Amino acid sequence: MTTETEKCDPLNQLIHHFYSGNHSFSLNPEDIKKIDWNRQQAFLEATVNSTLLKKYPVSSNFSKIFLKKLIEYLESHQEVHDDLYAQLCLAMKVSNHNNFCYKHYVVGQSLDKIITIKETRNMVVNGTTGLKTWEAALMLSDWALCNKDLFLNKNVLELGSGVGFAGITIAKMCDIKSLVLSDCHDEVLKTITENIQINFPSYEQKVSQPTLFTNGPKTIGATMLDWNKVDHFNEHMVPDLVIGADIVYDPSILKPLCNVLQTFCIKNRDIDIYIASVIRNEETFNGFLETLSSMNLKYEKIEMIKSVFIDWDEKIQKCVLKIKLNN
Ligand SMILES: C[S@@+](CC[C@H](N)C(=O)[O-])C[C@H]1O[C@@H](n2cnc3c(N)ncnc32)[C@H](O)[C@@H]1O
Repeated sequence: MTTETEKCDPLNQLIHHFYSGNHSFSLNPEDIKKIDWNRQQAFLEATVNSTLLKKYPVSSNFSKIFLKKLIEYLESHQEVHDDLYAQLCLAMKVSNHNNFCYKHYVVGQSLDKIITIKETRNMVVNGTTGLKTWEAALMLSDWALCNKDLFLNKNVLELGSGVGFAGITIAKMCDIKSLVLSDCHDEVLKTITENIQINFPSYEQKVSQPTLFTNGPKTIGATMLDWNKVDHFNEHMVPDLVIGADIVYDPSILKPLCNVLQTFCIKNRDIDIYIASVIRNEETFNGFLETLSSMNLKYEKIEMIKSVFIDWDEKIQKCVLKIKLNN
C-alpha cells in the first residue's frame, strides 16, 4: 500500500512520469535537493535498468527528452550521476527503427500493477488510428476498474480495440470470464496479439480461430471484426457485455457501427454496451446519438469527473454511454 508521503515524493513522481511516457513534469528547487546521487541511482534502477524496461524499452526519443530535462534540473543543485549522462548518450544514439516502442501504464500508485503496451506515438500509421492508445481507452479502463462488479464473470467483446489497452486492462484486473478484442486492421490485430502475450505470459495459445489464449477458466482473444462486413459476425459470438473506446469519430462508419450494436442487442436482449468517447466534433457525436435512436437503441450518459486508478485528461470533452435496446 502506498502512503500519501510516498505519493508526493518527487522521486516516485518522476518514476511514474517516466513509465507513463510523460515528459511535461516540473521540479522545484526543494524537490531537486531531495534527488541526491543515491536517489538518482534509485531512479535509474526503477526505470531504465529495471528488468521490465530492459525487456520492453520505452521510445528512445522520449528517453532523450525526459533525461535531458531531468539533467538540466539537477545540474542547478546536484552532482549529476554519471549513469544519467550515459543513459542520455545511449538514447541519443539509438533510434527506434520502426515506429513501435513500449509504454508502461501504471494502474494505481504502486509499480506492481503495470500494463505494458507495444504501440506507436503517431496518430495515424499505415492508414490506421489503431496503433496507439487513445485517451478514451484510459478513461474507459478507469471507469471499469471503478465498476468491477459489472464485469464479474462476463463474456466481454471489445470493438475497435486498437493496440488493446482497454481490453487487456479489463481482462487483467476485472474478474471476467472471457474477453475478445476485435478490430478491422491486420497490423492492429497482430499488435493486439503481441500485447496479449506480453501481459498474459502464463496463458496458453489455443489452435483456434479467433486467436484465443486460456488459463484455466479464463480466456482472452483477438478477432477480425469489421463493422462493414456482416460475414465477420460469428453466429456463436454472443457477448454479455460490449465495450468500445474512441470508436465514434468517422461519420461514414456511424451507421455500420450502430448496426453492429443493434445486432448484438437483438441476439442478447440483456446485453450491456459501454462506449467511451472523446468529443472532438459535436456534429459527429450527435450524429452517433441520432443514429442510435433511429435504430431503436436508447442511451444513458455516465458521469466521469476524476481519474481514479488510471490517469486521463480531465479537461477534455468526453462521454461514456450505456446503450440498450428500446423495449
Ligand atoms: C481511434 S482508434 C481507437 C483505438 C482504441 N480503442 C483506443 O481507444 O485506444 C479507432 C479504432 O477503430 C478501428 N476501426 C475503425 N473502423 C473500423 C471498422 N469499420 N470496423 C472495426 N474497427 C474499426 C480502427 O482500426 C482503430 O483501431
